[in-house]
Amino acid sequence: MALPALRASPAALVPPLLRRYPRRLPLLGKPFGGNRPPPAGCGIPAASATTVASPLTGAEEALMGFIAGKRKATEVAHSVWKNVVSKGDSVIDATCGNGHDTLALLRMVADDSGRGFVYGMDIQSSALESTSSLLDESVNPNQRKLVELFCLCHSKMEDVIPQGVSIRLVAFNLGYLPGGDKGIITASNTTLLALQAASRILVSGGLISIVAYVGHPGGREEYDTVQAFASGLPVDLWATCKLEMLNRPAAPVLILLFKK
Ligand SMILES: C[S@@+](CC[C@H](N)C(=O)[O-])C[C@H]1O[C@@H](n2cnc3c(N)ncnc32)[C@H](O)[C@@H]1O
Repeated sequence: MALPALRASPAALVPPLLRRYPRRLPLLGKPFGGNRPPPAGCGIPAASATTVASPLTGAEEALMGFIAGKRKATEVAHSVWKNVVSKGDSVIDATCGNGHDTLALLRMVADDSGRGFVYGMDIQSSALESTSSLLDESVNPNQRKLVELFCLCHSKMEDVIPQGVSIRLVAFNLGYLPGGDKGIITASNTTLLALQAASRILVSGGLISIVAYVGHPGGREEYDTVQAFASGLPVDLWATCKLEMLNRPAAPVLILLFKK
């Protein structure tokens, strides 16, 4: 399949978090639970806390939903992606599966002038067929052209991403295809190679997002591998964290690797 011409967008030159937060991140500008002024003596002037609208409303809502046990790790992941990617960006879905993440990413990056691109991959052709069908029925033909699907192990992602393309986000949703063969799962060794590849091609200001499942055979080992990789990334170049339900040990874990 021929790749469409890819142009370097001016937006690609500046990481979105920096574009949105030119001086410092006003993450706590709006207190959770409404526009109540902070308690006296907390050091934040009441006027600024009540008048600064947080630009992270979707993420706050998803995070609070996760904390309350009402939102899934994948929902938090999508809300975080929205705060990292911009229209016109190029991103990778490293595990297309049934295409829900691919579609969400396409909606985030596709703009009216045909910029933005999603590279999708999966080792199962049946998964790519599901993804392709979902895209065909969900977006218009112009937007559909902004996705290319590869039947490929994600450890080989560098073989298909054209040199010079700035990748803003790489999404992994590990484990097996829902509704498919539960014996075909992502595996520690190739997941590690894929994370290493993703870390090389990701642009500064970009994100690697991983949803890991520990409830199936091999899942815990793979999660440990991801966690060890994330923990070993140098702190001057990366900020890495995870969201995990402590009293639901089998629940999916969201791991986020932000390239500074
Ligand atoms: C949990 S599913 C992904 C769900 C998907 N993101 C969605 O939104 O529906 C995991 C997928 O990873 C795929 N997979 C397993 N090993 C892989 C590998 N080495 N490279 C790429 N994809 C792989 C499986 O075939 C499966 O479709």
